[in-house]
Amino acid sequence: MAKKLLLVAGFMLATYPVQAAQNVEKGKSLYINHCAPCHGLDGSGNGEAGAHLSPPPADLREALQNSIISDEYLMWTIREGGQNVHTQMPAFETEGTIDGNDAKDIIHYLWQAFK
Ligand code: HEC
Repeated sequence: MAKKLLLVAGFMLATYPVQAAQNVEKGKSLYINHCAPCHGLDGSGNGEAGAHLSPPPADLREALQNSIISDEYLMWTIREGGQNVHTQMPAFETEGTIDGNDAKDIIHYLWQAFK
């Protein structure tokens, strides 16, 4: 009984930050189309479209270990890109290519794939 409760508690802790409503498969295909060209399929930042950029695209596996990186921060990064911090990360919302719901799906995928 106690063991089962622990398992349930562990499961809840493990899944708490992940919003069940988000669509991880959709997030993945959006990531492949919009992010992987620079950040790479593995998140390491080795995508061809980013090869000539300075600074180079972030290693997302590393970035997501940083405790200041939250859902809100990722949302802001996808929306506004690097214009505030002088990098060439595109501002997807300004460009109109990724809306808020798509951004949420991508963020959901990022945590699953790269954290
Ligand atoms: C044109 C290339 C390019 C594309 C496409 C791109 N990025 Fe980036 N991204 C960058 C660059 C360049 C940086 C800046 C790296 C740095 O600051 O050292 C960056 C930084 C980031 C960071 C780190 C922010 C930080 O402060 O640590 C995140 C998270 C990120 N990108 C997510 C994404 C996501 C999600 C997508 C797809 C929706 C995406 N990027 C698409 C080039 C790109």
